[in-house]
Amino acid sequence: MTGKLEGKVGVITGGCSGIGLATARKFVAEGARVVIGDLDNVNGPRIAEELGGSFLRTDVTDQAEVEALFAHAKATFGSVDIAFNNAGISPPDDDSILKTGIEAWNRVQQVNLTSVYLCCKAALPYMLEQGAGSIINTASFVALMGAATSQISYTASKGGVLAMTRELGVQFAGKGIRVNALCPGPVNTPLLQELFATDPERAARRLIHIPMGRFAEPEEVANAVAFLASDEASFITATEFLVDGGLSHAYVTPLESDFE
Ligand SMILES: NC(=O)c1ccc[n+]([C@@H]2O[C@H](COP(=O)([O-])OP(=O)(O)OC[C@H]3O[C@@H](n4cnc5c(N)ncnc54)[C@H](O)[C@@H]3O)[C@@H](O)[C@H]2O)c1
Repeated sequence: MTGKLEGKVGVITGGCSGIGLATARKFVAEGARVVIGDLDNVNGPRIAEELGGSFLRTDVTDQAEVEALFAHAKATFGSVDIAFNNAGISPPDDDSILKTGIEAWNRVQQVNLTSVYLCCKAALPYMLEQGAGSIINTASFVALMGAATSQISYTASKGGVLAMTRELGVQFAGKGIRVNALCPGPVNTPLLQELFATDPERAARRLIHIPMGRFAEPEEVANAVAFLASDEASFITATEFLVDGGLSHAYVTPLESDFE
């Protein structure tokens, strides 16, 4: 039996932690070869070795480094079939618009939004030459909903990722290239754990809005990414692909007493 990604080469940014790491493992389990681009020089080589893949230390805000990452995938494994443009940050100094300074605003835009522009721009020429490819850009459910517990630049960056993805999906649909935005709800990763360790009240307030009453595990999101990356998703492009446990369509969430 072959995996659903057999023979494909996937580039994953932010692949050393959380959703990216779970996805790298899932891709390999499904038969793909992976190239990880991440800042994390400490864990990157070890993860690449574990997965029989390759790691290139990459800052996704740097155009030359991003171009080198995709060129490295092509040179090492022969193609660029999947681009999972996933690296992102959610720093504590990105908060309410009343508190967030221009430096924090710009940093988050660079890492979360400009990086996706750079990665798509670098991946597309390989995919156009092949006449095939799947790009998955990590947005978030906050691209679709307003949160009073604001992270203003993060939310705006994810809205940008979603709009850019939609446009690319439509533009390149006739060229065999699919481009989808992954919109996870809250996921149990270091990004979220760090945020909530410093603010348990905010964590609790967010949990009550999720109908399933829990955060996603990274592996549950990785399963969706592998599906979007695979030929099983051959008629799916330009979507806002929600993996949110029902969060963004919930008005009232259930109480235990509703089931008694
Ligand atoms: N965790 C959640 O609840 C959640 C929800 C929705 C969307 N997301 C999005 O999912 C993506 C992954 O988040 P996660 O929770 O797995 O985060 P994480 O913090 O666990 O992992 C992020 C990875 O990105 C890398 N990274 C950060 N800046 C980088 C840069 N400039 N260049 C290269 N690599 C860089 C980090 O080293 C790390 O390995 C992000 O885009 C995030 O916004 C997360």
